[in-house]
Amino acid sequence: MDAIFKRRSIREYIEKEVTNEQITAILHAGMSAPSAGNEQPWHFLVIKNRQKLQELMGLSPYAKMLDKASVAILVCGDLEKQKHEGYWMIDCAAATENMLLEVTHLQLGAVWLGVYPRVERMKFLRDYFSLPNHIEAFSLISIGYPTKEYDSINRYNPERVHLEKW
Ligand SMILES: Cc1cc2nc3c(=O)[nH]c(=O)nc-3n(C[C@H](O)[C@H](O)[C@H](O)COP(=O)(O)O)c2cc1C
Repeated sequence: MDAIFKRRSIREYIEKEVTNEQITAILHAGMSAPSAGNEQPWHFLVIKNRQKLQELMGLSPYAKMLDKASVAILVCGDLEKQKHEGYWMIDCAAATENMLLEVTHLQLGAVWLGVYPRVERMKFLRDYFSLPNHIEAFSLISIGYPTKEYDSINRYNPERVHLEKW
């Protein structure tokens, strides 16, 4: 629960390597997410190469933090692994959030870069990584060591809670 309440989008990083063990822990968390019919329709593309991280800044105007990220993970959906059509992106969202929580637990920082459903961003990544036709880019997670501590924010809003009736 600590990780849920402490998680923030972290966009500024110090230069420090994120180890392969940490990356594996983050991927393990992603693959532990719930999925429709337990279809687990995901793949994860790990990017550590500095030049590639910088080229990926071309994804959108909101991806500049990749310049200093230690690693990025592209979460992809596999359309051929769907058991229940139309759920792959929801499964990938659950995996993405799980990974953000593990990042927080490891005292690293990350931000979810939106890809799906923006077709131009999905195409940018499809072209960049030559993704097969049945693979769709869903989200890109930028990860590094935070430059500072971030406060958690209490977003509990009683107006969004409806008891027994609307
Ligand atoms: C689907 C989705 C797409 C997002 N895309 C971006 C993005 O492209 N660039 C970015 O800097 N932050 C992005 N964010 C992070 C949000 O801006 C952030 O979660 C929100 O401002 C709340 O702040 P917090 O994560 O610190 O709680 C995205 C978040 C989600 C869930």
